[in-house]
Amino acid sequence: MIDTIAAPEPAALPVCRLRHARREDAAELAAFAARTFEDTYGSDMPGRIGPEHIALHLATAFGPRQQAAELADSGVVTVLAECDGRLAAYAQVRRAVVPPCVGGRAPIELHRLYVDRSWHGCGIGQRLMDEVAAIAAGRFGGATLWLKVWARNARAIAFYAKCGFVDVGVADYFVGADRQTDRVLVRPLDPQAAARSAPG
Ligand SMILES: CC(C)(COP(=O)(O)OP(=O)(O)OC[C@H]1O[C@@H](n2cnc3c(N)ncnc32)[C@H](O)[C@@H]1OP(=O)(O)O)[C@@H](O)C(=O)NCCC(=O)NCCS
Repeated sequence: MIDTIAAPEPAALPVCRLRHARREDAAELAAFAARTFEDTYGSDMPGRIGPEHIALHLATAFGPRQQAAELADSGVVTVLAECDGRLAAYAQVRRAVVPPCVGGRAPIELHRLYVDRSWHGCGIGQRLMDEVAAIAAGRFGGATLWLKVWARNARAIAFYAKCGFVDVGVADYFVGADRQTDRVLVRPLDPQAAARSAPG
């Protein structure tokens, strides 16, 4: 289990390193992904999802076995942000089945983007978004980036709007057995973005 990272002083923005996750990161990634998922959907959201549904989702989506399978999948790229040597955020970009409301050319999905809550607002999400765009345009040859975000996740929706995404429709999202509504967002990918990928 990863401890929560101490909040930085406003004047001391984090020194973060982005890198692609490797298979040996599976256990740490699984613990981090489960904790940030629960932080996001299990506590401070209005109309929060019931703990039994969160528990079922955590058990099926996160664990060393699940994340090892994702890290071994050539259709998925996972980027880690390490700040002061600790895991502070991650993003996953992948080829996936595309919802009908996504009309853009060569669509690639931003599957997950989670920043430890103690680092929110420090610019890490923006850095990961730039890296995701570079991977989607470069490695995956994408021209459109799309994602699903819980309709009640106002903070993330505001962040994505700032990143240039527009709302194109809705999709179901099951947390455990609880059917929720996601917004589907898209943005075009800059072909030049492919050249900007930082980590190996
Ligand atoms: C949404 C999230 C990824 C944003 O990451 P972050 O590191 O906090 O965002 P950044 O600090 O990089 O912010 C980037 C820009 O978005 C803006 N932004 C961030 N949060 C915002 C908010 N609540 N409202 C409006 N704008 C916001 C910032 O102002 C910043 O713009 P600026 O550089 O012009 O000031 C992060 O808050 C998070 O992990 N949330 C919990 C998990 C989650 O909801 N993930 C999305 C699942 S689909």
